[in-house]
Amino acid sequence: MEVIICANEEQVGRIAAARIASALARRPDPVMGLATGSSPLGTYAALKERVDAGTLNLSNATFFALDEYLGLPRTDPNSYAETIRRTFTEPLGVDPQRVHVPVGDAEDTDASCEQYEAAIAAAGGIDVQILGIGSNGHIGFNEPGSSFTSRTRTKTLTARTRADNARFFGPGFVPTHCVTQGLGTIMDAGRLVLTALGEAKAEAVAAAVEGPVSAMCPASILQFHRYATVVVDEDAASHLQLKDYYRDSFALLPQGRRPV
Ligand code: F6R
Repeated sequence: MEVIICANEEQVGRIAAARIASALARRPDPVMGLATGSSPLGTYAALKERVDAGTLNLSNATFFALDEYLGLPRTDPNSYAETIRRTFTEPLGVDPQRVHVPVGDAEDTDASCEQYEAAIAAAGGIDVQILGIGSNGHIGFNEPGSSFTSRTRTKTLTARTRADNARFFGPGFVPTHCVTQGLGTIMDAGRLVLTALGEAKAEAVAAAVEGPVSAMCPASILQFHRYATVVVDEDAASHLQLKDYYRDSFALLPQGRRPV
């Protein structure tokens, strides 16, 4: 696993975007996995800079989001479909027809989850998946205890995730369930790029990167991926034991492997 410790959110975004751009450059019609929440916003801003500068062309790319709240129509301002439109699709000038988000209010959710998996496969699989991490170690909405081989399905959100996400909703209502790509789905991506910011993520980042691989910390499955990059700021890195080694490894990267 590659771990890169950055001075601030802007640098996290720039380095994550560089890793993503080189993964996308490997195919003329690449597929990118999107995350919602606060963590990927700097990455989306850095990708937008590349699109605006003409160094990244996303016009032939296809996109699949990680997750959606169950029961929220896609037009709800707090739905992940709407969040992705607002934070990624519109600012980067991407064709909305190319952006797929799990359906939160399907009549038959199980069938809709299977269709989502089939659509990812039909697009040729995900080349690079962007990930955040929950304070409890979740990726996507794969909460602790999730199966390492799981595919897109519904999950119950933990009380901690509901509390963490309450900031987006009015008082009294936070969704209790979601549809999420499984850990097996995420692990099929060609490259994983996880970003984390702030002290609130430090414990989860340490467990994911340096702890035992365990369903109790779903993000720890990244240790089994051949091409996983974790990009964190100083606060999110604060509980890592091998910080000096990660800094050395980055400083000693050969020219061609330098992200920026
Ligand atoms: C969102 C997602 C979640 C978030 C995680 C961190 O699509 O899959 O795993 O990445 O909850 O959220 P933020 O970035 O808001 O701290």
